[in-house]
Amino acid sequence: MTEPYRIRQARTTDSAVIAALLVEGFGHDYGGALLGKAGQRMLERIHALPGRLNGMFVAADTTDRPVGMAGLRTTELRPTTNWQEESIQLEELGIARAFWLELRADLTEPSNYQLRPDEAFVYSVVVTASWRRRGVAEALLQVLQQEAWSRGKRRIALEVVATNSAALRLYESHGYTLVRHRRGLLSLLRLGVPPRLLLARPLTNEVHSPPPSAAPR
Ligand SMILES: CC(C)(COP(=O)(O)OP(=O)(O)OC[C@H]1O[C@@H](n2cnc3c(N)ncnc32)[C@H](O)[C@@H]1OP(=O)(O)O)[C@@H](O)C(=O)NCCC(=O)NCCS
Repeated sequence: MTEPYRIRQARTTDSAVIAALLVEGFGHDYGGALLGKAGQRMLERIHALPGRLNGMFVAADTTDRPVGMAGLRTTELRPTTNWQEESIQLEELGIARAFWLELRADLTEPSNYQLRPDEAFVYSVVVTASWRRRGVAEALLQVLQQEAWSRGKRRIALEVVATNSAALRLYESHGYTLVRHRRGLLSLLRLGVPPRLLLARPLTNEVHSPPPSAAPR
């Protein structure tokens, strides 16, 4: 399959497709709370908020529809978050499910990773199933690495659930190595929640070279 795609910054008009990609990639990680229509609508509304797509890139097909996405965070570049997100979460999920989602995150997820000033962080890497194994995630990573380098960052980090072997292969093949395990409470107590692996790699001017997979496979 040789359909072309291009990597561009995400736009507010992408928010419905971004919501669908997030549900596809991570819906099962949240105890099912995001899997229904309400979960998708919540994510769509949140990602349509001004500033919410800061640092987000998409791989778009020939109709300009995103087929993959990945976000970059630095100390200066981060999605704007404010009280509106919580209120959308309550409106769409209702108080019980919104509370459950928060509680679950508190119990299972490690605290937010604190970035160093010279560091960038990759998050929300997803490629829709029909586009996988064509180098799309690889091309997104390359663009994020270039963006981080051009912003003066010299190291790039990310987190991956220890059991996600596809993502681990992807990152390891791009020179990311283990920094440490990060655990939420249930993982610390060894209650069946796998740890997250903090991986990182140095950035050098080699990231300026064009991505190997810019030409679709
Ligand atoms: C992980 C994911 C983003 C990979 O996207 P992708 O576009 O298929 O990845 P690429 O085609 O760029 O793969 C590049 C390399 O990564 C590795 N890789 C990717 N998917 C793999 C899989 N399912 N099994 C083994 N290795 C895999 C391979 O080394 C691959 O190179 P190859 O195809 O030449 O063997 C995609 O499977 C996905 O969206 N998964 C669900 C969400 C998720 O887990 N995101 C990561 C969160 S940290």
